[in-house]
Amino acid sequence: MSHIYRRRAAGALVASAALLTTAACGGGTEDAADYPSEEITFVVPFAAGGPTDTVTRLIAEPMSEELGQQIVVQNVEGAGGTVAAGQVADAEAEGYEVLIHHIGMSTAPALYPDLAYAPLEDFKTVGLITDVPMTIVARSDFEPETLEDLVTYVSDNADTVTLANAGIGAASQLCGLLIESAIDVDLTEVPYDGTGPALTDLVGGQVDFMCDQTTNTTGQIQSGEIKGYAVTTPERIDALPDLPTTAEAGLADVEVGVWHGIYVPADTPDAIVQKLTDALAVALEDQGVIDEMAKLGTSPVPADQVTPEAHTAKLEEQIDLWTPIIEDAGVTGE
Ligand code: MLT
Repeated sequence: MSHIYRRRAAGALVASAALLTTAACGGGTEDAADYPSEEITFVVPFAAGGPTDTVTRLIAEPMSEELGQQIVVQNVEGAGGTVAAGQVADAEAEGYEVLIHHIGMSTAPALYPDLAYAPLEDFKTVGLITDVPMTIVARSDFEPETLEDLVTYVSDNADTVTLANAGIGAASQLCGLLIESAIDVDLTEVPYDGTGPALTDLVGGQVDFMCDQTTNTTGQIQSGEIKGYAVTTPERIDALPDLPTTAEAGLADVEVGVWHGIYVPADTPDAIVQKLTDALAVALEDQGVIDEMAKLGTSPVPADQVTPEAHTAKLEEQIDLWTPIIEDAGVTGE
């Protein structure tokens, strides 16, 4: 599914359409000084309507405006986000194919021994976007009423309870693993192309529960379409003040946030990366973006995190953190 974000100035749109035609005919190399002279594609590794897609679409419009070019969002689902990352790793390094990915960028090397790309070597980082809390949620008529009830119920019914996720390498799968490990059960996992479709099935009662980002679950918890048990942050969050933290509700080991960032192929000129970083920084200061994120239980990262250096440091730290945990758990996507 694709959606085009356009600059708001009508005159500029006409100009960009002309440039688009030229670029489509000529293709080829890009002078960083002219960048961007054609439309940019933001590649999202999960289904439309889910949390990564939501964050991407929130920043796409102000970034499009800042860069003076259209941005198209393309959802490339599969293998916990690794299909999309592989596509962008192999793309022309001209800043026109851009990956928006989350914590899965750091877990993939341990989960997929034959991964077709190396996160630190095959990409340049552009900057961090946001760090999203997760929630433990269930279909509205699921028997357990509280997280304590859920732990007991899941322990007693481990052979029948179903746990939805967005595939191996997804944040929902990682959080689900932490839950299974904390309760010491091995549940039937139901994988989707993203937690957008998983949430639809949860609302419809086709699966029992899942762990998912507030950017996907806040509205449905507030409306009562799904049951919210806990938030996976050390403190309660303003968007869902009645939801206890996992620590308060007895699952202190299930604490996880889902950081997101922007990547381009490794050979992309630094001047192009800088233009993307600058546009991201402007987008994250946009009051509309800040307000919308707040409604969804999150916020932009602090300004000093919106740099390639801070983003690379985060990626390195997270690869070091998750690799031994995943190897010890013996989980693999292949
Ligand atoms: C999505 O956009 O569907 C996700 O971020 C899913 C996940 O990682 O759990």
